[in-house]
Amino acid sequence: MFKLLFVCTGNICRSPTAHGVFRHLVARAGLADRLSCESRGTHGYHVGEPPDARAISAAAARGHELSDLRARRLSPADFTQFDLLLAMDHGHLGHMRAMAPPGGGRVALFLEEAGMGKGDVPDPWYDGPAEFEAVLDLCEAGCQALLKKLAP
Ligand code: 4NP
Repeated sequence: MFKLLFVCTGNICRSPTAHGVFRHLVARAGLADRLSCESRGTHGYHVGEPPDARAISAAAARGHELSDLRARRLSPADFTQFDLLLAMDHGHLGHMRAMAPPGGGRVALFLEEAGMGKGDVPDPWYDGPAEFEAVLDLCEAGCQALLKKLAP
């Protein structure tokens, strides 16, 4: 089993969106016995909470279920339990690199790993529906590309 971890700040907007989209694509491709994913936040402000209601509804409108997810904080043990840990933006990437013990899973930027350049998935938290749609667009395109790369 190849284990993937998506990481953002609060684990209530961006990384749960990537988590829900990726697991949906994996299930649809019949690859759930080979690929799995989870998500975390670099900060603990929202631990135990479901994803933001705006993220849940935007994802649901495209057929991705997020409502069962609960926010968790990134811990040092995650680096040894996951094969690939993907940062949603450069801030998370720096935080993860500083925290990573030697010999753990590989740490990379989500969009770069997906072959989509070195950009960030912008934080939609202080914004509106358009920004949540933009997060979904990036997560769908990135997760599709990642799936192709991991299970060609
Ligand atoms: P996320 O968005 O990192 O995509 O889950 C955020 C959610 C909450 C906060 C920041 C970003 N916050 O500061 O509480």
